[in-house]
Formats: sequence, C-alpha cells, structure tokens
Amino acid sequence: MNSSIQFQPIQSIPAQAAVFFAFEDSAPLTGLPGVDQWAAGLYSSGEFTGKLFELAILHTPAGLAANRAILLGAGKAAKLDHSLARKLGGATVRSLKSKSILALAVALEGPWQTPEFVQALAEGALAGNFEPDEHKSKKESKQIESVVFAAPGGSTDLAEALHRGAVLGAAQNFARDLINQPGNILPPVELAARAAHMAASQGLAVDILDEHRMRQLGMGSLLAVAQGSAQPPALIVLRYEPAEPKGDVHLGLIGKGVTFDTGGISIKPSENMEKMKYDMAGGAAVIGAMMAIAQLKPSVRVTALIPAVENMPGSQAVRPGDIVRSYSGKTVEILNTDAEGRLILIDAITYARQLGVNRIIDAATLTGAITIALGAVHVGAFSNNDGWQNELLAAAKAAGEKMWPMPMDDDYKDLLKSAFADMPNIGSRGAGSITAALFLREWVEDTPWVHLDIAGTAWLDEPKPFLSKGPTGVGLRTFVELVRRLESLS
Ligand code: BES
Ligand code: MN
Ligand code: ZN
Repeated sequence: MNSSIQFQPIQSIPAQAAVFFAFEDSAPLTGLPGVDQWAAGLYSSGEFTGKLFELAILHTPAGLAANRAILLGAGKAAKLDHSLARKLGGATVRSLKSKSILALAVALEGPWQTPEFVQALAEGALAGNFEPDEHKSKKESKQIESVVFAAPGGSTDLAEALHRGAVLGAAQNFARDLINQPGNILPPVELAARAAHMAASQGLAVDILDEHRMRQLGMGSLLAVAQGSAQPPALIVLRYEPAEPKGDVHLGLIGKGVTFDTGGISIKPSENMEKMKYDMAGGAAVIGAMMAIAQLKPSVRVTALIPAVENMPGSQAVRPGDIVRSYSGKTVEILNTDAEGRLILIDAITYARQLGVNRIIDAATLTGAITIALGAVHVGAFSNNDGWQNELLAAAKAAGEKMWPMPMDDDYKDLLKSAFADMPNIGSRGAGSITAALFLREWVEDTPWVHLDIAGTAWLDEPKPFLSKGPTGVGLRTFVELVRRLESLS
C-alpha cells in the first residue's frame, strides 16, 4: 500500500473514494455542498448516526474528483485520540477493500491535521491492510493500493508524521507475516535467514550464532530446549549503531523465538496446539522494530537478540528432572519442558549483558497465566526498576499499546525452589506469570529491565473491524517509541 499526503483540499484529488470521518450528534461540515447536503439528510433521517465504524456511500458526488464520497462513523467527537485514529485508519481500509474500493483519499480537516493523528491513521491503515492469507490460493480480499491524505492546512511536520506511520505500519506487517508462518515453513534457521536478509537490506549488522558456537560458549539452557528437535537452533543478533550516538544508553531488545512449541516431553494437549506457531511473536516484534529503527535512524545504540528454537519431544529431548548449566553458570532443574521460553531467554539475557547492553526489554509469549490475569487486552509488564518501567509504560501509551504493571514482590520467590539445582524452571502453583518473570530476573541481575508477557495479546482470535484475525505484532510500536524517547533523554 502506497501512502502519501497532499496539502490541498480533497475535492481535487482523484480516487475511487473520498473518505470523511463523521462524528456522532452532528453531521460533518466539509464545505463541499454535494457532501454536506447528503450528510445532513442522512443524519436528520437517522439513517446514519456517526457511530463507530458505520459506513455510508454516495456515488458520483457533485464537485469531487473522486468517484464516491464515504462517511465513516468516528463515534463521539470528545473521545477522539490517537488510539481511535489508528482504529479508524484500519477500519477505513478494511471496510473499503472488502468492497474492492482500493484507491482512497482521506479528508483531514480541523482536529485531524496533527502529526499525532496522521501518524496513527497511517499506522492503522497499513496494519488494516494486512491479511494472513499468504498461503491461500484464493485470497479473501484485495489489498488497498493507495491512500492519499488531503491536509489543506498541513506542512512538512505532517509529512514526517506520515513517513513515521508508514514505516511503523510496514514494520508491524513484516513482523506479523513472520508470526503467521507455520512451524514447517519458518523453523529457527529460516527465521534467522529472514532476519538477516532484512538486516542486510536495511544496513543493520547481523550475527547468527549457530549450535556449534552456542555450545562453545556454554549456552546449555538454550541448547537443552533445542535438542529435542531435528531443526537446529539459532541465536539471532542484530545491531543498530547510530552515526552519532547520544549518551551512553545501549538498549537490548530480546524476543522469544520459539518457532513451534509442542511443550516437549511435557507435551501440550492437542486442542489449539496449532496456535503455538505464534510462540515467536516476541522475536518477530523485535525484528520488526529493528527494521523501523534502521529506517528512522535514532541516535541510540540498540542490539536485538532473538533466541530461536523449536520445542519438540524428539528422542534426544530434554527430560523433566534434567539439570542444565546456563551460559551464566547458574544451573537449572527442568521440571517442566513446556516452560521453555524462559530457558532460552536467560542465555540470551546473559549474552546481551556481555555485549554491553545496559537496559533490557524482553518480549515473550511466556505464560498462559497472563491471559488469565489480563485477558487479550493488556500486555503484562514486569520490571526490576520502577524508573525504567515507567519509561516503557509511557512509551506504550504514546504508541497505543496497552500494557499493565505486574508485581514482582520477593515474597513470590518462595514459590521458586529447586532441591537439586540453583533454580527450577517452574514455580509451584499460582502466580505463574510472576514466577516466570522472577526466574528471568535471576539472570538479569541489576541491569534495568522490563519483561513483557505478550501471550494474551500477540494473537487475535477474532477479527476486529480494524485488524484481521491472527498476529498483532504487539510490542513493536512501543519499542520504536521507547528508542525515540531515549534519544531525547540521553
Ligand atoms: N508458549 C507457552 C505460553 C503460551 C500459552 C503462549 C498460551 C500463548 C498461549 C509457554 O511456553 C508455556 O508453555 N508456558 C507454560 C508454563 C508452565 C509449564 C509453567 C504455560 O503457560 O502453561
Ligand atoms: Mn511452552
Ligand atoms: Zn512457549
């Protein structure tokens, strides 16, 4: 999808449809008689009320270069914020492409002409255009070809905002495409190849550690998870080095990359197991964020690490009770092979710290328990540092991704005791997301860190008017926003 902005009134822009956002309570006033009279009639008869995502279409509107005028319900005017703008961008694209209306012009009037809304509309429009139908011979819907934003009172800051939004939307779709790939098509080595290809085309440095190098380094925890699969593991490392770094922040973004999670010997029930292809959603969000960072070029150093494995119950698989030595030297008693995410993350965390990373964010589809706690709405955010957690939560808010702080009280540590090794890989009963985070904290030590449990939010079971069913790419926009903020902080 091609997006652009023009600083001229919408009536002169040729398109298959000219879209006007219409709030509840009063008909829109566009200054275009052909549109305003039509809208006034719809509102006074009650045929159209402006409720969220409602749609009305007028063919061959008088005085417009476009073939159609469209009213898209925007809800209550007082509720307009960037989150709503993002959804409206998505809903516009999704409702029109389902009607094969593929070249759009969108009128930005009055309150819409701010960088914040323009960026959000572009992000939403691109994200809305994504369909998880790559492997279907017959596509369910066509793709929107172009969206032109008409902002007669706009200037270059709106053009920059549109560029940011387009970069973020495309990066999010890149991540969603990775997440959507099934385990057979995207095993660890293929995830690494796609990350390396993206990195090379964007000018990022890349290093893929293979099994041999990980063995030399002593990454016994990550390799224990990998050993049950015929698919070799990979530790993907991507580096963004700014031309002129400001300050001494070196951010480490770590994403869980389990390309398929059967549970291993502690095997999962077969019902819904197919969904476990999204167990690399954290890794994909990190890879996509690096793609956006490479294009937006902030002056902050960022290193991304994605431990990639397949968790399988092969004949060489790790057994419950096995004790492994992690890269840091701490030993782990593997009581449940389905708690594999934390086992691969801890070796990546130690490696990140060794590379000089001094702040860490990790994103992982880590526990089913986070869905019990927060459902499919909020990401759970766990941290060892309140200041750093607040930075992350502020970035999430600005990026329109809902995240909620979770407790990491030491009292929960009593649940994590191993009789035979330094740590067990699961807690005993209750607070499953918290004990998982506490486990990770043992390897993070004093580096400021936030762990994001995205198991509940990385996959949409039902489509929304503004987003398809399937992978969401959650986390990505927050990471990029956080890096932008670190730039002015350092
Ligand atoms: N990948 C799963 C977590 C998950 C569950 C993600 C549902 C998305 C949807 C993770 O590896 C896992 O299996 N966690 C276990 C931990 C348990 C064994 C302590 C879980 O949540 O059941
Ligand atoms: Mn698991
Ligand atoms: Zn998993």
